[in-house]
Amino acid sequence: MFPYNADNRNLVETALGNKKADLVIRHGELVDVYTGRVLPKYSVAVCGSWITYVGPDADYAIGENTRVIEAEGRIIAPGFVDGHTHIANFFDIADFLKYAIPGGTTTYMTEVESYCFGLGVQGLNIFLDQIKDRPVKLYCTVPAMVSTSPASGHFAIQPDEIRELLQKEEVLGMGESYWQNAILTPDNRILELMQETVKAGKSVQGHAAGAADKRLGAYACAGAVSCHESVSPEDILNRLQMGFWTFLRHGYIREDVGSLKTLIGQIDLRRCILCTDGIDAESLVKRGYFNDVIQYAISLGVPPLEAIRMSSLNCAELYHMDHLIGGIAPGRYADILILPSLDEIKPEIVISNGSVIFENDKVTAELRRIPYNKKIFTTVNVPLMRQEDFTVPAASCSIPGKVRTIDIQSNGLVAKEGLADAPVADGKLLADPVNDLLKLVFIDRATGRAEKFIGFVRGIGMKSGAVATTQAWDASAIIAAGASDEDITLAVNTVIHHQGGAVITAGGAIAADIPFPVAGYVSDAPVEEIHAGMMDFQRKMEELGSQLRSAHLTLVTLTSAAIPFIRITEKGYFRFRENDYVRI
Ligand SMILES: [Fe+2]
Repeated sequence: MFPYNADNRNLVETALGNKKADLVIRHGELVDVYTGRVLPKYSVAVCGSWITYVGPDADYAIGENTRVIEAEGRIIAPGFVDGHTHIANFFDIADFLKYAIPGGTTTYMTEVESYCFGLGVQGLNIFLDQIKDRPVKLYCTVPAMVSTSPASGHFAIQPDEIRELLQKEEVLGMGESYWQNAILTPDNRILELMQETVKAGKSVQGHAAGAADKRLGAYACAGAVSCHESVSPEDILNRLQMGFWTFLRHGYIREDVGSLKTLIGQIDLRRCILCTDGIDAESLVKRGYFNDVIQYAISLGVPPLEAIRMSSLNCAELYHMDHLIGGIAPGRYADILILPSLDEIKPEIVISNGSVIFENDKVTAELRRIPYNKKIFTTVNVPLMRQEDFTVPAASCSIPGKVRTIDIQSNGLVAKEGLADAPVADGKLLADPVNDLLKLVFIDRATGRAEKFIGFVRGIGMKSGAVATTQAWDASAIIAAGASDEDITLAVNTVIHHQGGAVITAGGAIAADIPFPVAGYVSDAPVEEIHAGMMDFQRKMEELGSQLRSAHLTLVTLTSAAIPFIRITEKGYFRFRENDYVRI
């Protein structure tokens, strides 16, 4: 099922000293994640991709072709494992790795919902082509694809499809499935996906935000074994006590590692795991990837060895991979870091599969772009729109003269239902940007029917112009908001033309334009360019009056199936508490 050393005779002979090693690391302080100690003056020998010896003296394995790395006074640590991330958004994988490898992560377990909302199982297979034969290990999980948009169910992965996907070595199990949609719904699809995953011997990742007591227990009964949604010490304890592997997240969406602070020294951290839960271009360029999370945990008081173990062995165990990765021991992959000290999580050397892939501040591995299957470039199945497509008859109001609104709260993510007066002209409802009332549009891009709903939103703050994007969370959609139908039309048509992207329009002209042609979520531009584009996007939103901290993030989460209390779909607004669809 998983990769193995095809020539174990060769490894045995190297371990015994009958053959010479390819690489020896000598006399470092070795982080032993198995016993929780630092072993002084330890050495490691490597044959091909694998570790053959760990002990006080590896000199017997040194031959004339053996590369020797002197590690005296430095730390030898296992390569990091990020067990819950979303790297299938925004970036080409080769470009992403250019920034991620220096941080020392040698294994990535990623969600891949973006490719699947673009193209279903076919999208997942296209992503698998992208992660093959990389200098680090990349794995993915099959997305649950829970959505409040019925049309987005078009590409939802079915039990017979997951069975086949789970046969693949790079597919480690099932990705995050919102607990409510697994256990509080009569629809059995998610439970069946979970069942198939457990049957295949793989693991079901969870998303138990807000669940406790019997509901959390029910989620475990369904098959979920982990959760990365702990936002308080109580959440951490509740999950650990019920046997959940508990991820502490520190990424661009949320920073929750701090919840661990009061528990340090009080509980066993062996079932706690650090993760990023995804990253954006700005964080990647400014902070690098994942090593800052480990450094942050140490700054909170987590002992360095424990923080390293929470980023290696613990996660390897969750995925049943600790015989391959997660620690420095014979028979494991040679995924090894040389760190300056235990307190300084800044690798000097990164070794992956036995090869040095980063040293002297340079990524030395070959990072080539793999051409995409062309189908992934045509995922916005929507005809060009006309301005009149965005008119809303005044007669469609449930309460005459009033419109139901999505009111974005101050953190930019949570939204509540509201009621507003909307101006009327010629029997049509208009946006009222002076009073912060914009039209909000959802267009299904999956089915070819381009079903749409036009509602209203407060809290974006644009005084003019419009914005559209295809990076919608948990939906295969174009989402747009705007003050004028003319600008909405131009923004929507521009993302249709690019087959994905984020666009701002104002005064009938394009003000910002970031194409996401890969599945409607991923740019094919270099990371630096994406970063500059997103900065420009935010600036333009602010120039148009928005005070949102991250306007694009707020916009794309308006379709999320996991953020309360009201979201937009092609069927109208979806209200979580009432579990219903309502129109304006
Ligand atoms: Fe996630």
